[in-house]
Amino acid sequence: MRELVLGIETSCDETAAAVVDHDGIVLSSIVASQADLHARYGGVVPEIASRRHLELVAPVIRAALEDASAELGDIGRIGVTQGPGLVGALLVGLSAAKALAWAGGIPLVPVDHLRGHVATLYLAPDPLAPPFTCLLASGGHTLVLSVRDRTGYDVLGSTLDDAAGEAFDKGARLLGLGYPGGAEIDRLAREGDPEAFSFPVARVPGHDLSFSGLKTALLYAVRDLSEAELAVRRADLAASYQRAIVRALVGRLHAAARETGDGTIAVVGGVSANSELRAALPDARFVPLSLCTDNAAMIASAARFARSIESPGYLGLDAYASV
Ligand code: KG4
Ligand code: ZN
Repeated sequence: MRELVLGIETSCDETAAAVVDHDGIVLSSIVASQADLHARYGGVVPEIASRRHLELVAPVIRAALEDASAELGDIGRIGVTQGPGLVGALLVGLSAAKALAWAGGIPLVPVDHLRGHVATLYLAPDPLAPPFTCLLASGGHTLVLSVRDRTGYDVLGSTLDDAAGEAFDKGARLLGLGYPGGAEIDRLAREGDPEAFSFPVARVPGHDLSFSGLKTALLYAVRDLSEAELAVRRADLAASYQRAIVRALVGRLHAAARETGDGTIAVVGGVSANSELRAALPDARFVPLSLCTDNAAMIASAARFARSIESPGYLGLDAYASV
């Protein structure tokens, strides 16, 4: 029976493929991170990402099928990230998906990466049912969402400048930590005092967020310290900076939930892996850490609830860079 969904994700610097069944059980999920390749540049280099995706996409898909003990003949639909992301990177996954769909006579489902993050909440063993109010915080986006059904969402607020993950990454760079910086700050913050520095949380109207002022405040704090002082205070800076980001996110999510009247709140995206954010929202729904950052199980999950496109309709699909 053809009922499995193959997901493919290549929007940034992870080459990922996964097999999910109709009930949202993840049969396999392979994520090949290129983070090491980009680390020495302090961020993702698009051309390097595309080239690496090209090398990895076929073996990663093969490994996902193998791990799930599945063959192409078992796949009922292929979900692939269409955007937003790096267009060159997206095109590698999209082209691979088209080729497989064509070869296997399988319908294709173009998936929006952000809807994919939300769809992690619909995976087994404990799928969340809408309605709920959701914070999506990743390296590229920070959105406050009202989710009424599994096919999409309404945007209540978004960041006016940097995404929360970007704020973590840029903060980490200012502190001399590695890339990607979110997990590094998370780790270092555990050794620091979150009240040591008072960083501002921007107040912007409505449900929007802003992180650029916070980043500048960290820059000034770092500049005021000598090398030796910075070495001593680095953990305090990380803890205080993280506290400010978490406070802003938690405040926005609660305010939005008050407006929607939803009893259920959820957090998805790479930043939802943050330990302080998870601790600050004990009643919110989070997914396991492996599903917070980019993966393909989320794309396969979203593909279960979207319309599929038959051959040859999908051949004309193009990638898109931004929402
Ligand atoms: O969702 P994701 O994997 O990719 C995008 O769609 O952007 O998110 C990546 C972001 C990066 O900015 C990374 O620093 C951040 O998620 N991140 C974290 C943590 N783990 C990953 N931020 C804070 N704390 C973490 N533990
Ligand atoms: Zn993402």
